[in-house]
Amino acid sequence: MAKMTRKKLAEMDRVDPLASFRDEFDLPEGVIYLNGNSLGAMPRAAADRARRVVEHEWAKGLIGSMNTAGWYELPSTLGQKIAPIVGAKPNEVVLTDSTGINLYKVLASALQIRPDRRVVVMEGSNFPTNNYMVQGLLEQLGDGYTIRYAEAENILDAIDDDVAAICITHVHYKTGNILDMAAITDRAHAVGAAAVWDLCHSAGAMPVELNACNVDFAVACTYKYINCGPGSPAILFAAERHHGKFEQPLTGWYGHKAPFNFERDYVPVKDIRQMLSGTQPTVSLSIAEIGIDLMLRADINEIRRKSMRMTECFIELVEERCREFGFELVSPRDSAKRGSQVSFFKEDGYPIVRALHDHGVVCDYRAPGNVRFGFAPLYLRYVDVWDVVDRLRDILSSGSWQGAKYQVRSAVT
Ligand SMILES: Cc1ncc(COP(=O)(O)O)c(C=O)c1O
Repeated sequence: MAKMTRKKLAEMDRVDPLASFRDEFDLPEGVIYLNGNSLGAMPRAAADRARRVVEHEWAKGLIGSMNTAGWYELPSTLGQKIAPIVGAKPNEVVLTDSTGINLYKVLASALQIRPDRRVVVMEGSNFPTNNYMVQGLLEQLGDGYTIRYAEAENILDAIDDDVAAICITHVHYKTGNILDMAAITDRAHAVGAAAVWDLCHSAGAMPVELNACNVDFAVACTYKYINCGPGSPAILFAAERHHGKFEQPLTGWYGHKAPFNFERDYVPVKDIRQMLSGTQPTVSLSIAEIGIDLMLRADINEIRRKSMRMTECFIELVEERCREFGFELVSPRDSAKRGSQVSFFKEDGYPIVRALHDHGVVCDYRAPGNVRFGFAPLYLRYVDVWDVVDRLRDILSSGSWQGAKYQVRSAVT
């Protein structure tokens, strides 16, 4: 393969159909932000929206904004908007609560599809909050419910006719490994189990086809690749065929069939709004719309193409220019199997991540030994890939990462 140069990468930027999106983000001067897989960058328009919701809708409209500014319906109106990003119908998605809380609600619902079964299949190496949420739910349910842990290579074998539901993450948070949503969901359905998916690292980074894959329930955060803001409410998907056929456990008034009748007893509404529990984080929801609107203007196939190209170039350059420093690729080498991030194993990874921060590169560290670089195609340039590897090589060859100030762990790594 011809050698990669900065000039070649600059040429790729010149013809990049997504290039103009970068100007729509407010990125700090000189910073290369490779952490969009944790928290997406801020779309410039979000600042105006935040001002509007606080200074106008809240300050002037007061409680009337529940009706006049559409606050009350935001989980559904934004759910309708975001649905195509995950291959869902508009009436199958709400934006509400956090991913973990939504996971709790959807898994409790999914288990009702097979009340005769007691096993949930999950990846043990999954993002821990998913395991914790499911462990908590199953303990509360009691009655013999257990988790059967599997890993990417043996998930299909773990799905047999004891399984009530699978609860699987589409793209692995550490390695970026993509699981085959269609094949795993088919396998679950073939044995009569329900399929629940977590799309945190795929929504907004690649085409996701929940309905084409016949998924039953799904969750996803919106603060990563959809750029909805810190702690923004999460996606909750329930396939229409299940509406009205289950009860979710967090039975608050927003899921009631007539919340403003203030009846004593809970009677769920029989559509997607049943998944809501209570009063919503309205400021956060309002800002989220900016990231969704921006994402809807971009072609998701172009996003995926650029993401694959960027991660390919990054792997090639790190392996070529930093080989002697012992960076071991953890992510799949085949870009078709890799999400929008690249992880390298490096024993002393944490201080290197800290030193990169001091040199204007924001990436992160996931214990033990994973240095993660996230590539958000809407605001990164191909030349950024070159510049990051340049800075990484400088830090490694000078040994500056060994300085005492880089050894101290922050609470968030
Ligand atoms: C796969 C996955 N699930 C869930 C979460 C987080 O969920 P929450 O927003 O509820 O903390 C993350 C966070 O990065 C994640 O990577």
